[in-house]
Amino acid sequence: MDTRIYDVRGKDPEKAEEIREAAQMLKDGGIVAFPTETVYGLGAVALDAAAVAKIYEAKGRPTDNPMIVHIRDFAELEALTNKAGSEVELLAKAFWPGPLTIILPKKDLVPDITTGGLKTVAIRMPDSKVALELIRQVGKPLAAPSANISGRPSPTKGEHVEKDLAGRVHGIVIGEDCRVGIESTVLDMSDSIPIILRPGTITAEEIKGVLGREVLTGSDSEPGSPKSPGTKYTHYSPKAEMLILQGEKDLVFREIDKIKSQKAKLKIGIIDMGDKTTKEAAKVLFGELRKKDEENVDLIIAIAPRNQDSVGFALMNRMLKAAGNNFRLIEE
Ligand code: TXA
Ligand code: MG
Repeated sequence: MDTRIYDVRGKDPEKAEEIREAAQMLKDGGIVAFPTETVYGLGAVALDAAAVAKIYEAKGRPTDNPMIVHIRDFAELEALTNKAGSEVELLAKAFWPGPLTIILPKKDLVPDITTGGLKTVAIRMPDSKVALELIRQVGKPLAAPSANISGRPSPTKGEHVEKDLAGRVHGIVIGEDCRVGIESTVLDMSDSIPIILRPGTITAEEIKGVLGREVLTGSDSEPGSPKSPGTKYTHYSPKAEMLILQGEKDLVFREIDKIKSQKAKLKIGIIDMGDKTTKEAAKVLFGELRKKDEENVDLIIAIAPRNQDSVGFALMNRMLKAAGNNFRLIEE
């Protein structure tokens, strides 16, 4: 398949001819990748079952793993879901546009293929001018999982998408690098108790603050539960073995020297995020993991930020999955 590249970096999305063409491609039933503030998504018109089917095929994604539907105004959420009450309105006011995905019971017009056969649908309003303008010009919500081949890290730069999907999709809109770098917080509001199925940079504390009641954190305690189908699939793990170290700087580097001398034959790649804030680390993590795979290292040592905070929970969630839980806290 010929993949059209639409580079809109530095352009005004409202005026860019590239976005007009990409929108037309989506209206014609094509699949087109585009940037959001979290990671790049691979989009299709969410109500077009045939177009959505092409996403599963291009990604090699199991068809029971549902997609997030991207909207540009609150009225679209009401058109797609049932039971969006005052709490959902509060969440939208507080966090949209932004990296929060809300799960609600779906209306019949949402095709089963978009929701992986579930009776609920995941909705998000992305905080990206390019994404919002694309949705506006298509005039319909866009289903979009992360724009990587299944099992690879989510793409945070246009070049990551090109590497994974060129030749497999109709178009790729290339914008700025993703500001957040890890995927949105997924919050299930379809039941009586709100449950976070996937942690992100919008934290449980912030959501509790808005709702004024208890919020559970669910997915990782119940891997593969029917509530969060995504969690039962193997997540990205690099080709190399990966170890996470955390602790005081001198101690961590002493430990790395020790490992280097013990494993002199191994090509070791270091991802040093020790001095970064958790937000800065989240932004670069997936790109660094891709780089290390390209460098063909045998062992990746990732140094976690020393200053952990509530965003660190979402960052660690992605790091631990990549490392198969291979984590060491370095203490005196
Ligand atoms: O930041 C993001 O969320 C990015 C950008 C492109 O918006 N999208 C993204 O999509 O990460 P994806 O498909 O890679 O991850 C969506 C997650 C999966 O774990 C999926 O199982 C879950 O959301 N999900 C989607 N719909 C669901 C539903 N109805 N019930 C439970 N989980 C759902
Ligand atoms: Mg994904």
